[in-house]
Amino acid sequence: MMAAKSLGDMAGATYAAAVAILINPYSRAEQWREAFEQLLPGEDVRWYPDIGDPAEIEFVVAWLMARSELSELPNLRAILCLGAGTEQWQKPGMPDVPVVRLADPAMADQMAAYAVSYVVRHQRGFAGVEALQVERSWTIPTTPPTWSYKIGILGYGTIGARIGEAFAALGYPINAWTRSQRETPGVTHFAGIDQLEDFLGASSAVINVLPSTEATIGLLDRARFAQFSPDALFMNVGRGTVVESDQALVDALDNGPLAAAILDVTNPEPLDADSPLWDHRAVTLTPHLSGVTQVRSAAQVVAANIARFRAGEAVEPLLDRSRGY
Ligand code: GLV
Repeated sequence: MMAAKSLGDMAGATYAAAVAILINPYSRAEQWREAFEQLLPGEDVRWYPDIGDPAEIEFVVAWLMARSELSELPNLRAILCLGAGTEQWQKPGMPDVPVVRLADPAMADQMAAYAVSYVVRHQRGFAGVEALQVERSWTIPTTPPTWSYKIGILGYGTIGARIGEAFAALGYPINAWTRSQRETPGVTHFAGIDQLEDFLGASSAVINVLPSTEATIGLLDRARFAQFSPDALFMNVGRGTVVESDQALVDALDNGPLAAAILDVTNPEPLDADSPLWDHRAVTLTPHLSGVTQVRSAAQVVAANIARFRAGEAVEPLLDRSRGY
């Protein structure tokens, strides 16, 4: 193939279009290579850090990439993100090109399975039953019935809605909180900051799925935790920044209204060694594993989106920088 000339050489020269796809897999490189080799036959694929001529790169497929390296790609058309969150692409100095968020149903399924496992474990008292085994005790705990155990989901996009569907299929009532009003059959919707207090008070378990944006950072502070229902469960699978401080959460666990917290995301990750959350009796910590990008399905989503770009079709969901996600 004829090499594209750099922008500096363009004036008056024949210019070959940028057509290459730069893939920066971050982890599991072999699996990504195998998946994309099958899905992008005939494409000019470059594997980071072997960029080749930067002017030839049309698409970047990555979870993360340095601003300095991205700014060297003069013909970059779009970034296809290998994760659901996009805060890393919004730092100052990042190129102002479309960023496609990864909306992979397989990741949403995985997060729904995580949420169901840990919420049900708490609601049905399974941890207590496990602890009694060493005592050879045969005791059924008294627990709230499913029909009255309201699952409140903070953020009802692709992932939040999948979590809602999973619980609804098991007979749990669903509350959802979103920025603007929605309607979903069988779901009680709450919208906007004015209805957040009612949403928190009406939910037995609150599952945060919100992204980290200016509007969500520190959203759950002492005053908000005080609005949770008595003995509520708080689960965080969105971003750790939604919790204003570890101490505000600990105080809500120690003094009410919270009974327990299940945290798959924290701020920072991992937590500081002296964070009170590490050894709090009512906190279950998992290391940001609820929704790990699934190579096979994510590669399919990315390859389909590249085909849409090439065909001039609309590609969704795109990062909306004014909203922050
Ligand atoms: C994980 O948190 C992701 O954003 O994909």
